[in-house]
This record gives sequence, structure tokens and C-alpha cells, in this order.
Amino acid sequence: MMLAGRTLLITGAARGLGREIARTCAAEGARLVLADIDLPGVQATAETVGARAVPVDLGDAGSISALAASIAAHEGGLHALINNGAVATDVGGMGFEDIELELWDRVMRVNVRGTWLMTRAVAPMLRAAGTGRVVNVASDTALWGAPNLLSYTASKGAVMAMTRSLARELGKDRVGVTCVAPGILTTESTDYVPEARHRLYAEGRAIPGPQSADEITGTIAFLASEAALTLTGQVLPVNNGFVFNA
Ligand SMILES: NC(=O)c1ccc[n+]([C@@H]2O[C@H](COP(=O)([O-])OP(=O)(O)OC[C@H]3O[C@@H](n4cnc5c(N)ncnc54)[C@H](O)[C@@H]3O)[C@@H](O)[C@H]2O)c1
Repeated sequence: MMLAGRTLLITGAARGLGREIARTCAAEGARLVLADIDLPGVQATAETVGARAVPVDLGDAGSISALAASIAAHEGGLHALINNGAVATDVGGMGFEDIELELWDRVMRVNVRGTWLMTRAVAPMLRAAGTGRVVNVASDTALWGAPNLLSYTASKGAVMAMTRSLARELGKDRVGVTCVAPGILTTESTDYVPEARHRLYAEGRAIPGPQSADEITGTIAFLASEAALTLTGQVLPVNNGFVFNA
């Protein structure tokens, strides 16, 4: 099992992709801490995979520090952080001139600042692990320039940029930082996306058709494992070939 003996923190694990990542990582032998702002939701995930659920608001610095302290106290360390939690629902469908300031600020606060603060909070434990890993979940919309989604694509572009800079800062302590960029998935959060956008992806992929969350979780589990040790600073589109890296 790829993750035997490793303790992982997965944010945004109440539903969607985060819940599927938890299932795969549990099956690969990881000890899991699952965190989300939706406490009943993340407790339900935790029950199904035998994990510990902790509430967190990724928009709140104190809440993030409390989560890290809870892991230090209960698990005593951490091998990998999967920064999956994000404002990813109802973020699109409007032109850049129509985005409310409140939405822009909330997306940036949670998706960008939250990723930075969460990584900062657990960095001492990742350094101590000796084989620490951070896996950031971005989106390939930031690579191909999806329209009518500007706050979200900007936030995910920032997550890609942070992946590279964090890889350089954490690398000297043998902590690897990578980023996956999924395309559109068949999860709850994409119900609001127009059928035409789903079709655009389904027809534009090198491997055509829809993509479910469980199809990309194996890559994420690998990136959180010791086997991925030489991969750092890289952004991997996990999108059945909709858009390619240079
Ligand atoms: N579903 C897709 O098509 C798709 C495509 C590309 C990238 N992604 C990325 O994958 C990740 C998961 O997406 P999803 O589709 O499962 O979205 P989702 O909205 O279903 O899940 C996001 C999770 O994050 C949690 N969350 C939101 N705000 C939070 C906060 N302030 N503090 C703590 N938790 C918070 C939510 O409660 C939810 O459980 C996101 O980073 C998203 O951007 C998803």
C-alpha cells in the first residue's frame, strides 16, 4: 500500500473530490485527518473511511492554526497535506465585469490565502517528517483561460505559482510540493456549469468523455507518497488530455 505508515491531512473532504481523495488514500493505508467547514459532511466522510474529522474555516487564520495544533496533539506529526478545500461552487457563469467584490474576496481569501496559511501551519511537521509532501489542487481552467470564471481562475493560477515558490523554499528540508490541475469533473460542484461546457471538455479530451473524481485520486495519492520524492514544483494536468503542459 502506497501510503502505509503515513499521516495525511485532506482539506475540503466533506464532499466531491475531497471525499474521493479520502477514500483512495484510506485504501492505500494512510492515517487520515479530514477537515472542512461543513462539519456534519466531513464527519460522514470520516466515518466511512475510519478517519478523524476536524472543523476548519480556511478563510480564518485562527481556525487553520487550531487545526494544525490539533494534529500535533492527536497524531503527533504529518507526512502530507492535500490542499483541496476551496470555494469552487457557484463561482462562474458571470463576465468579469459582473463579479461581486464579495465573491472575488471570498475566493481569494479561501483558495489563495487559505492554501498559504494551511501550508505554513503544518510546515514544521512536514519538515520533521523527512519525506513531507504538499499536494495543491488547482484547476486546468487556469491553464486554458476559461471565460466567465475570473476570480476562480485567478485563484487557481496563484495556487500554481505558489506551488513553484513553495517547492524552492521547502525543498531544502526534503518537502516536495506539487499541484494537480483537474478538468471539469462529474461532482456536485459542477452541477451549475452549463451543459455546453461539459460537452466542450468531453469532446476536447485526448481520452474523450466525462471524468469522475475517482479517476484522478490515484495520481493525488501517489503525489502524497514517498514514491513521488523527485517530483517537486510541478503542475500536472489530470484531465484526460484536455490541455497539456508546455
Ligand atoms: N469538480 C471539478 O470539476 C473540479 C475541477 C477542477 C478543480 N477542482 C478543485 O477540486 C477541489 C474540490 O472541488 P469540488 O468540486 O469537490 O468542490 P466542492 O465545492 O464540492 O468541495 C469543496 C469543499 O471545500 C469546502 N470548503 C469551502 N470553503 C471552505 C472553507 N472556507 N473552509 C473549509 N472548507 C471549505 C466545502 O465545504 C467542500 O466540502 C477544489 O479545489 C476545486 O477547485 C474541482
